[in-house]
Amino acid sequence: STPHTISGYDYGDPHLPHSPVTLPEVDRLKSALLWRDDDDRALREAGDVLADQVTEIVDAWYGYVGSHPHLAAYFAPPGGEPDHDYLERVRPRFEQWILDTCRKPHDQAWLDYQNEIALRHTRAKKNETDHARAVDLVPLRYMIAFINPITTTIRPFLARKGHEPDDVDRMHQAWFKAVVLDVALWSRAYTDSW
Ligand code: HEM
Repeated sequence: STPHTISGYDYGDPHLPHSPVTLPEVDRLKSALLWRDDDDRALREAGDVLADQVTEIVDAWYGYVGSHPHLAAYFAPPGGEPDHDYLERVRPRFEQWILDTCRKPHDQAWLDYQNEIALRHTRAKKNETDHARAVDLVPLRYMIAFINPITTTIRPFLARKGHEPDDVDRMHQAWFKAVVLDVALWSRAYTDSW
């Protein structure tokens, strides 16, 4: 899929509400998690390495969610079976997020779409985009916990294109920081104590 054909992918849509977080706050958050200039470069490299692997990566993540009923439950109505249409509609946006995480500048459009992704995990907007009838909230504790599988499982994909282990480590560290940054931003939608 190209961004234009991904259903429900609203990155850069001028009608999106602005994030309640400001860009200077993003900078302070990045400095708190030890973001460095060379992380930007390492992430762009990671984008080149991962670009033709995003389908396989999301397959791996979906396999992981699917094999844990208490996680698959968030793609299901309360007490019901996972909604496969819902899963398949979210998939291309998940693939695109991998590329965006590596490639997009941290500007207002990026920040506003972080806010949108956050809201789509909460009662504010979950299910709305895909007209799903699933559980209406992904709990914050699982958002935080997922930082680990989303980071750990990416490493073999980063190592697949013949880079030196040091380069793989740099890309992996930058990916880890980028995921922590996203989830830290997304937590704003869950709490007033941000
Ligand atoms: C949607 C990433 C945690 C369930 C999405 C999307 C992305 C994403 C990129 C698509 C956003 C878009 O619409 O463009 C992540 C990341 C996580 C995380 C990086 C943590 C590090 C979780 C967890 C669950 C979950 C723990 C529960 C098992 C969902 C669901 C949707 C979704 C159900 C569809 C939301 C909707 O109705 O619009 N996620 N996610 N996610 N994710 Fe997550």
